[in-house]
Amino acid sequence: MKTIGLVTGGGDAPALNAVIRAVVKTGVGEYGVRVIGIEDSFEGLLGETRTRELTPVDVRGLLPRGGTILGTRNKGRFVQYKPDGEVVMPESSFREAIQNLERLGIDGMIVLGGDGTLAIAAEFGKYGIPVVGVPKTIDNDLAHTDLTFGFLTALDIATEALDRLHTTAESHDRVMILEVMGRHTGWIAIHSGLAGGADVILIPEIPFSIDAVCHKIRERERCGSDFSIIVVAEGARETTGEQRYLTQGGSDVSARLGGIGYYLRDEIEARTGKEARCVVLGHLQRGGSPNAFDRMLATSFGAYAVRCLMQGDRDVMVALHASDIITVPLAEAILGIKTVPPAGGLVRTARDVGVSLGAPDEPQMDVECE
Ligand code: F6P
Repeated sequence: MKTIGLVTGGGDAPALNAVIRAVVKTGVGEYGVRVIGIEDSFEGLLGETRTRELTPVDVRGLLPRGGTILGTRNKGRFVQYKPDGEVVMPESSFREAIQNLERLGIDGMIVLGGDGTLAIAAEFGKYGIPVVGVPKTIDNDLAHTDLTFGFLTALDIATEALDRLHTTAESHDRVMILEVMGRHTGWIAIHSGLAGGADVILIPEIPFSIDAVCHKIRERERCGSDFSIIVVAEGARETTGEQRYLTQGGSDVSARLGGIGYYLRDEIEARTGKEARCVVLGHLQRGGSPNAFDRMLATSFGAYAVRCLMQGDRDVMVALHASDIITVPLAEAILGIKTVPPAGGLVRTARDVGVSLGAPDEPQMDVECE
């Protein structure tokens, strides 16, 4: 292993650059290998390739910098979605990319991505390219790792937004709704909802009833709290409905979700007569500087990924387990996503402190007012 290729794929997340920095510093400084950055995800390996060698000088000052200096794509020529939902990985793209890897002298790749990008990485592994994956996504929905880097920074941003919404909600006696990211999972919503003192938390894992949400708002009013705070994951849906999309995506997994917050606002105003406002936090959760923990996690992941590749580990993903960095088979890591357990500790905690998850079968809290 003399030359490592480095790829960042899928939606960006805080601390991608911190991983890049750690890979370059460890690869060049500790093992004396070359690190070649591949631009715009795997797309930089097709046609007139877009790559550049990264030296320790190139990664100076990257720890606090958001985004990725290599660029990223969440659509490309390595995955096609058929109308029936079938996912196809065209052999021609992989063959062309592998020829280019050989021409560039790249012996193995470190790939920073979520489930989609890591599935492409696993496919390269099947063609015999040594690959190590690094789990990235603000959604924290990758299986077999306690945390993905980027998640805790997104959580900080969502929590600060809730703190700010609290004061304006209270001043105006309004219902304030914060729509956060989370395509299939409610990790950002439930963590920020607990940290920011939301009254209602709506997540994709627990379909909600609008009656239960309005009941909670009325109960709060009966007990003297004239405002309420709701945090909703973009992928949440009613028991009677589907997820809401901004774009027509069919079976394409990159179709853009959004709109559930505005729907809630309109329904709540119509049913309770209270004024409601919706804020969509969107890409503020993904942009900007990573927090201290994400910088540290990204650095640990990056350094460990190089060590794995140099030791001869293949087709693995680095992962956080308790407080250790370990590896798990890449093939297992991409098999399914990690969702919030509806009967798990986080949901239980939320209910213990009086938060409604909007479930129709949730005990209707006709509480004694404190
Ligand atoms: O990284 C995943 C994610 O944050 C999802 O929660 C969200 O649906 C998606 O990215 C949006 O990505 P983009 O706007 O880049 O298509």
